[in-house]
Amino acid sequence: MTRRICQVKLNNERYLAHAGDLLLDWALLNGVELPHDCRAGQCGACRVRLVQGRVFGGHEPGDDMIHACQARIVSDIAIVTEDVPDQVTLSGNVADIVRLAPDIAGVTIEVAKPLSFLPGQFCKLQFRGYPARSYSPTYPLEGRGDDHLLHFHIRRVPEGKVSSALGHDIAPGHRVKISGPFGSAFLRRNHHGPIVLVASGTGFAPMWSIAVAAIMEQPKRQLTFIVAARELRSLYSHAALCRLALFPNVTIIPVVDVPQSDFPAIRTGRPTDQLPALSPDTVVYTSGAPVMTENVGRIARAAGARCYADPFVPTTTPSEQARVRWAAR
Ligand code: FES
Repeated sequence: MTRRICQVKLNNERYLAHAGDLLLDWALLNGVELPHDCRAGQCGACRVRLVQGRVFGGHEPGDDMIHACQARIVSDIAIVTEDVPDQVTLSGNVADIVRLAPDIAGVTIEVAKPLSFLPGQFCKLQFRGYPARSYSPTYPLEGRGDDHLLHFHIRRVPEGKVSSALGHDIAPGHRVKISGPFGSAFLRRNHHGPIVLVASGTGFAPMWSIAVAAIMEQPKRQLTFIVAARELRSLYSHAALCRLALFPNVTIIPVVDVPQSDFPAIRTGRPTDQLPALSPDTVVYTSGAPVMTENVGRIARAAGARCYADPFVPTTTPSEQARVRWAAR
């Protein structure tokens, strides 16, 4: 049976494809270098924007960002890609491990060569002798950034193969392989409308990176940052958030699951209940538990707002969650 020929406009180039072709395979066969990694719809590395036409699979209804590794071409389409830094592999050493909260470690890795990444992206870390895990490099909570130091927030879980070794077998001086960057939930610069950030747990790391970069780009921009944790002691970022709150149009909304009465400014409940009114001019970024990021995405799309998320999913170690894994996520 002859398959229908479809036109594909990719950025400003025009190509032909067969109806039913998987977009990523079609691109690679045609010499188009689309970034990709997991091929499972998880890492977000292959996401492109669909500006015209239809594809089957690879996106949520109403979302124009599609996973090329999951989307089949079913009509004439136009897609655009965004410039992202090339993926590289570097080696480094653990420089420091600190306790940010009872269940969260701050890990600093020293690299000989800076890693180029966009605020909100993530990379794979492989501590020597341990399986790879994915975490977001973030801006330091105190002091200025240094191109040769990468900062990560890692949730400790008792059975986690990697996180339970932090501070024990994995200590300063431990060798680390760093690959990346990956992900599509990075700051879109030159946007002048409101920004809403929603983070839970160590999803704070990429959102903090975006918040700092967004304010450095436009110090008077309207920015709402919802930071969720299960309980008060896991809200590890308050000092940094207090500094961010000094900017004129920044609103910080901390929220916890477990009710508390010590701090009236800290709300109780679900982060989605704290969302401000969204409009098509709003850009929402979210990172953390999949249920939360899916709900935030759904609310944003219903309001016509653009939403970017690279949700956490479980690794092969059931209790240890890390960002997008495909060697194990
Ligand atoms: S390569 Fe498509 S989501 Fe990872």
